[in-house]
Amino acid sequence: MKELLKENFIKYFKKEPSYYYFSPGRVNLIGEHIDYNGGMVFPFGVTLGIYAALLERCDNKIRVISEKFNEEPIIFRISDEKKTGDFTDYIKGVIKIISEKLNKKFNKGFDLYITSTLPAASGLSSSAALELLISHIINDLYDLKISDLDLVLASQKAEREFVLVNCGIMDQFAIGMSEEDKAILLNTNTLEYHYVDFNLDNATLIIINTNKPRALVESKYNERRSECEKALAILNKKHDKDNLCSFNLDELEGFKDELGEVLYKRCHHVITENARVYEFKEALEKHDLLKLGKLLTASHKSLKEDYEVTGINLDTICEALDSYPIVLGSRMTGAGFGGCAIALFNTTDLNKIDEVMKEVKEKYKEVTNLELSYYVTKSSKRTGRI
Ligand code: GLA
Repeated sequence: MKELLKENFIKYFKKEPSYYYFSPGRVNLIGEHIDYNGGMVFPFGVTLGIYAALLERCDNKIRVISEKFNEEPIIFRISDEKKTGDFTDYIKGVIKIISEKLNKKFNKGFDLYITSTLPAASGLSSSAALELLISHIINDLYDLKISDLDLVLASQKAEREFVLVNCGIMDQFAIGMSEEDKAILLNTNTLEYHYVDFNLDNATLIIINTNKPRALVESKYNERRSECEKALAILNKKHDKDNLCSFNLDELEGFKDELGEVLYKRCHHVITENARVYEFKEALEKHDLLKLGKLLTASHKSLKEDYEVTGINLDTICEALDSYPIVLGSRMTGAGFGGCAIALFNTTDLNKIDEVMKEVKEKYKEVTNLELSYYVTKSSKRTGRI
């Protein structure tokens, strides 16, 4: 990969780069739509991600090429805070947040070439991967010695306050703190976390991309967030809790009428999903593959019926997979409404996986007229120099 990065960097900038970086995408094993409800999540950075080559400049300019988006360098000043609605907003946002945090002006820019093995707009968090990439670059170039965790927090702040997407902490955390062969069990309320071995031995995890064009994801996402806020306010008429995940099902029952059907279902998902994360951790530690599969499938059902964030594309894939004994379980991952699913196969034989996926592909095409793609994956290193 480095050779390719170097070659392309030279093609665009006529000089050799000095540093190379990788920043992974993320999947979440389980614990969906609860990182903004104080719940437990179980993500990791994947082996698909963004690769970059970089050379410092002596002036204050940033020149950037993203293989997928532009053929001529986009040029702006490192202190530029004007949004343009493209991927450079993530770059400007992170630089602004770090500069404000340290009360420091940056005056030397860089040339940057970016390419990616992450499928575009697939819900595997390419935006968080880019934010973490930039935060690491600034940290290294200016020798700021900011901790990995603080880079995660700065990246999330940039997304929320500059790009104006009201995301939780999960994506940036997964990408900025990932470790090879581990999954991260993260308490999003306290930010306590620990690594759990993620070695599947006889099983294989794949990512399946619906390739559904992204539409309305942000507005639907914000709608769910505000539904949760409304529900919390109702529950707190008789309680005083910080978040929905601190409630149990018995407490919820008492509010069934007052919440109404929709808000009740949203809370039901949140509370049961949080419990599934703990069960998943136990099953992973015991290498109980059957249980892991069942929990994935139960999570999807809850996201479909109670939280209503799956949609025909993801449901078609997961329902099709359900009929194969070799598939232990599957579920959507990330925000939903398209994007990607994950599936756990009870085999390491890639030919067997291909056979199943060929049939699932056909069923999916029949229903949606779209082609799905899939990738075998495992957990990778966090963002950093390579
Ligand atoms: C998106 C957000 C995350 C999280 C997931 C759903 O990926 O960025 O913070 O809320 O959706 O679990």
